[in-house]
Amino acid sequence: MTSNINLFTPVQLGHYTLPNRMVMAPMTRLRAIDNIPNSLMATYYAQRATAGLIVTECTMVSPLSLGYINCPGIYSPEQVDGWRQVKDAVYEKGGKIFLQLWHSGRVSHPSLLGGQLPVAPSAVAASGKLHTPIGKVAMETPRALETHEIPEIVEQLDSEYSDYLQSLCMWHQHPLLRKPIHSENACLGYHCKPDNT
Ligand SMILES: Cc1cc2nc3c(=O)[nH]c(=O)nc-3n(C[C@H](O)[C@H](O)[C@H](O)COP(=O)(O)O)c2cc1C
Repeated sequence: MTSNINLFTPVQLGHYTLPNRMVMAPMTRLRAIDNIPNSLMATYYAQRATAGLIVTECTMVSPLSLGYINCPGIYSPEQVDGWRQVKDAVYEKGGKIFLQLWHSGRVSHPSLLGGQLPVAPSAVAASGKLHTPIGKVAMETPRALETHEIPEIVEQLDSEYSDYLQSLCMWHQHPLLRKPIHSENACLGYHCKPDNT
């Protein structure tokens, strides 16, 4: 199949007109010390602002959604300020940036979660090892979520509900986000799909 689409021409993505058709894929960088986005990250994303659209690295929506050391979050005022710094740096260069939201589900470890067990659709451990504050360790059997806990997680992943995500949206009328949700194998959404979970 041949195509004559020129990558350097604008394209409409919902409400957004992208100046070109190149979208930067979400890539976990793990540079958010204490899970707070910082100036190093602002520089990194601003350097890539000529992409038609940047999708950020996966960003955890609650303390219990953490699966990696130094993964950024979006549930505290400090994290919101950090992402504002990133977003402003990208907009200053004329770029557009969406925030990718993430809940790691069972792909986590108590040493990342203040001693709590990770949560999942059912108490079935994922295979493999994780880098944690106590070294590289096997994933533990998670705690099965209670039905009543699920709406809160859905709300955390939905920018229309979350106060923090809404406040980000409103800055200067510049949207940092829609809600591309990370949902491949290291994510809670994905853990709901296989028959064994
Ligand atoms: C270092 C690295 C980090 C990644 N982090 C994320 C991430 O945070 N969120 C996500 O959805 N995908 C992540 N990915 C997957 C890439 O976005 C994916 O590889 C990209 O979309 C290219 O797709 P392809 O591998 O099918 O060509 C990551 C990939 C790499 C190599």
